[in-house]
Formats: sequence, structure tokens, C-alpha cells
Amino acid sequence: MRQAFTSFDDTLERVVRLLKSHKSGYISGEEISRSLGFSRAAVWKNIKKLKSLGYKISSRQNLGYKMIAKTGLMLPWEVSDGLQTETIGRKIYYFDTIDSTQNFALKLASRPYENGSIVIASRQTHGRGRQDRRWISPRGGIWLSILLKPNFEVSQTSLFPMLTALALAIAIEKKLKLKPELRWPNDVTLNNKKIAGILVDASIESNKIDYLVIGIGINFRIKPSTISKGIKGSKNYGVTTLVGEKSNEDSTVFLQSFLEELERLYNNVIANNLHGIKKEWEKRSSTIGKNVKISTTTGMMTGKAVGIDDDGALLVSSKGKIQRLLVGDVYLQS
Ligand code: BTN
Repeated sequence: MRQAFTSFDDTLERVVRLLKSHKSGYISGEEISRSLGFSRAAVWKNIKKLKSLGYKISSRQNLGYKMIAKTGLMLPWEVSDGLQTETIGRKIYYFDTIDSTQNFALKLASRPYENGSIVIASRQTHGRGRQDRRWISPRGGIWLSILLKPNFEVSQTSLFPMLTALALAIAIEKKLKLKPELRWPNDVTLNNKKIAGILVDASIESNKIDYLVIGIGINFRIKPSTISKGIKGSKNYGVTTLVGEKSNEDSTVFLQSFLEELERLYNNVIANNLHGIKKEWEKRSSTIGKNVKISTTTGMMTGKAVGIDDDGALLVSSKGKIQRLLVGDVYLQS
């Protein structure tokens, strides 16, 4: 099943809104048809579609329809309902199944009016991780890409994974009351196991960022074994899920909180308040102050992680010198 919806294809959204505004009672098919200017057949067809998308709608002869519960899917109109952001999520694309939200967002980049657009999928068949790794993306996770066109210098590109990881950690603390940690450059962990990863694809023009696609993979409600089976053999740190299979935490509400935090931090970068962000990141870091082993593009190095600089680079004290690293995988030394 490959279903796609956008936040500007508003037929289903209008039916949902009407049903939600009649929560206390039934609304007749005739009234829906009159209010929305649809035929009775179109009303019925849309109700059927909404039920197939997981909305619980009671239908009673002579009374009409009543929304009992909303869907658990992160459909565009559910994500935008009450979302307190100005830029991020202005347009929302949703796919039931896609190869990679990142690839789709990259295609959007050349179009106008897409700054802040987000692409969400319930499942990815070819999710991409950092350093050309596979990213296993079963149902239950939040697989998301955000397209941004910031007017920044190239050196600031590496700030974005950091910023995104920090926003995610804050949303997890606020909404789920958990204590996540940040592992440089871009992992969010819980008890040292990965719960989210971030991938940034950037296009650069004359030393300025032309656009950025920030891909975020959140193991929201997944079976860790599904993921670890798929990455067997490759180097990995272990994965876990943010909420248990039976938990009724709403992924849409969580996603909204994350997007709001991210926009708040993004505005701080625009206002050049980098110090505050760096401090907040370091406070949650499981890397800084530790003896680490880092696999870099040129090989393995060991040293002590002493901090990050204003561009998000990791500062490692090694053999009496401070080295500045922009990419790599960090392992704690035992
Ligand atoms: C990592 O390797 O830690 C980064 C993983 C990023 C995965 C996300 S899921 C949504 C987006 N689409 C992709 O294909 N990848 C990113």
C-alpha cells in the first residue's frame, strides 16, 4: 500500500474537522454533505476512507456519524492540528510507505515555497543512515525529513545535527519524562542504546548553504529485535524503543513537541545565540569528559573528548594536541 497525503489536499481533513467539532453527538450525512458541498456518495466514501486510516467513527442509521477516536497515524492534518510553529511543518507530506523520506525531500528542494516542508512516512523500504548505512524503518517509528533553506555559512552545517538531537532530547524529557543522552555527533540514546539518529544532506553554493535536508529516525514504538536483526554484523551500539508496545503515548503529539523545540532552537541559531545551545547540548552529552575511541574517515583515533566548538565539531585531546573532528563514530573506552 503506497498512500500519500499532503497538508494541502484538504478533502479528508475537512471531514475530520467537522466530525471533531461534533464530538458530543452525531452529525447526519445530509448535514456533512450540505456543510462541505459534497455529494452524499462522496461523504460515505470519505468516511470509509477515514475508517481505513484508523479513525474510529460510529455510523448509526437515522443519526449519522460520530468520531469516537482519532487515528494513530501521523497524517498531515493531525500533525498540523495545534502545531505551534511558523516555518517547520508549513507543508506536510505523508506516505504510508516510501523508499526514503530523505530522497523525497531532496527532490522537493528545487521547488519554490518548500522551506520548512516536512516528509513523514509510517514505513521506509530503503531508509538511509549515516555513512551510507542502512536505516531499518518498520512501522511504529517516526521517519521524518525536514527541508530548510537557511541563509547560513557552510561551516554552520554541522550545527544542524546537534541542534536536532538537542530538540529531540528536550521533547523526550518534556513529553515522556525520560532522561535521554546525546552521543556526538548526532545520536540520541537511552541507557546507552540508540533511540534516534540524524542524517543531514546539504547542498552548498558559493560558501553558503543552499538547502539542508535533516533526516530524523526515531525508534518510537518498535521492537528492538526487528532492528538489531537487520543490522547484525555491522558495527552498532544496540538499539532500544522510546515507548513500549502497549503504551498509549501518541506519536503525533510527541512529533509536534519535537518540531516546536526544533523551531525554537533554529530561531536561536538565526539570532546567533549559539552559546546557550552549546551549553544545553553539553549538559546532556555522554561523550564530553570521557576517554573515547573514534572511527574517523582516516582511521581510528583515541583521546579524551573535551568539548565541542561553535560549529558543532568535537574537540579531542590526543597526544598532547587538541584535534577538531567533524565526522566520526564515537565509542567510549572501557
Ligand atoms: C543515523 O545513521 O544515525 C541517521 C539515521 C537517519 C534516518 C532517517 S529516517 C528518516 C530519514 N529518511 C532516511 O532515509 N533517513 C533518515
